[in-house]
Amino acid sequence: MNDRRTFLKIAIAGIVAFFVFVWNKLTLNHIEATQQNTSVVPLNKNKEVTFADRFIIVNQNNSTTVFSAHCTHLGCKIDKYEGDRLVCPCHGSEYNLQGEVMKGPAYKNLNVIPSQISDDGKNIIIGA
Ligand code: FES
Repeated sequence: MNDRRTFLKIAIAGIVAFFVFVWNKLTLNHIEATQQNTSVVPLNKNKEVTFADRFIIVNQNNSTTVFSAHCTHLGCKIDKYEGDRLVCPCHGSEYNLQGEVMKGPAYKNLNVIPSQISDDGKNIIIGA
């Protein structure tokens, strides 16, 4: 009797976890797709990594790249830069400054967000 109840609890927990995972994937993709409005962020080329709300701005080798700050595992906001890695606070995924996964559980690289530097070079226009 107890074995049956335990099995049912585990099965239900597994089903709920699966639907939460699918829901997160669907809603995060929707948010990424609908939040294509532009953001203007002051550009500090002397700083290698800048966290700006839902973006991570990386300056390296005289070029600037903007990544989505949403971890590709379950979408937590990446807000730590330790050593040479961008670290997700939720489950510890790590990315290098090219946005490539260095440590899971994430397996997809960070999304690159189109951007351009303003004419005066003082700002970066994200989503442009
Ligand atoms: S959400 Fe980032 S590692 Fe899980």
